[in-house]
Amino acid sequence: MSSKSSKPFRNPRAEHDYRGRPCSIVGMGAYVPERVLTNADLEKLVDTTDEWITTRTGIKERRLAAAGEFTSDIATRAAERALKNANVTPDQIDMIIVATITPDMLFPSTACLVQQKIGARRAAAFDIEAACSGFIYALEIGQQFIATRTYDTVLIIGAEKLSSIIDWTDRNTCVLFGDGAGAAVLQNRPNSHGLLTVCMGADGSKAELLSMPGGGSRCPATPQSVDARLHYLRMDGKETFKSAVNAMFQAGQEALRRCDVDISRIKCVIPHQANRRIIDAVGERLGVTPEQVFVNLDKYGNTSAASVAIALDEAVTSGRIQRGDLVLLVVFGAGLTWGAAVIEW
Ligand code: UT7
Repeated sequence: MSSKSSKPFRNPRAEHDYRGRPCSIVGMGAYVPERVLTNADLEKLVDTTDEWITTRTGIKERRLAAAGEFTSDIATRAAERALKNANVTPDQIDMIIVATITPDMLFPSTACLVQQKIGARRAAAFDIEAACSGFIYALEIGQQFIATRTYDTVLIIGAEKLSSIIDWTDRNTCVLFGDGAGAAVLQNRPNSHGLLTVCMGADGSKAELLSMPGGGSRCPATPQSVDARLHYLRMDGKETFKSAVNAMFQAGQEALRRCDVDISRIKCVIPHQANRRIIDAVGERLGVTPEQVFVNLDKYGNTSAASVAIALDEAVTSGRIQRGDLVLLVVFGAGLTWGAAVIEW
């Protein structure tokens, strides 16, 4: 990925110093379901051990949605918290973007269901799908609407009920993922948690590394497709691991370059929470100390599009990030997709 993949990060906006109206995160919120699934619980489901999961991934437990609790419900809980923290009412929202790979249904969008649940009647609403990079993609899309003065208030949400697409007989994947959501309210509000830059990238030539083959137009549900377990997430873990380290490192570097910030000035790096070994490798290559890196995957596992949003919310509420701190988010996911953002908190 090295030399080729540095190209997609080049951004005409950066070269022409065009920024538009500044955009800030004026409120964050997160929600994880109550039910906890521990590594010990998984030992009873598949041939695995707490020792293997802990040393290979860093995950100790994850949350699972209740029966009858869907992605739109999880997203709504996070959104309501973000709106409260932002001191914004639902009727002020101009647009809702939900990033998810586990929508309630293929259509209508989960964003429309959230719009109805929170009562944001004025808001346009749509989903985006960039897998684990979804929150950063949503951040960049939302920022553009603020920058161009098209909208004043955008609600972005990363939300997943991954437990609905996990093959609970596959030990390679079922130990890795969890359910949850994180949300942010975007506005132009001077002196408030400003976005310095966001960058995104993708490499469709590696689409097969991480996918759910069934359920789309290529392979609609049939008794045969269900028997072949095609409606579950599949991953080539080893190859995905290597791509993740490279892409997150390069995305982080590119974001820093664009806003001319040296890594030593970053108070907190918030990486996609997929695997502790990936996080450590990315941190090492970026040249940060382990103390600069925020990790909470031990509690929630990989929550895909929700991952960095939940982590950012937790870093802020726990006091790990203080006003004025520079924060670097770096993400990676199926597609392949990747991205990074620098925020002055
Ligand atoms: O969020 C999107 C991006 N996703 C990621 O970034 C995930 C990237 N990949 C990973 O995190 C890691 O590759 C895994 C955690 C998925 C796997 O770790 P690994 O060190 O790459 O292990 P492996 O796949 O090479 O498997 C090593 C061994 C295999 O056994 P053999 O063939 O050597 O006998 C697996 O069958 O570990 C076995 N194994 C397990 N053993 C106990 C795989 N899963 C388990 C398990 N418990 N749950």
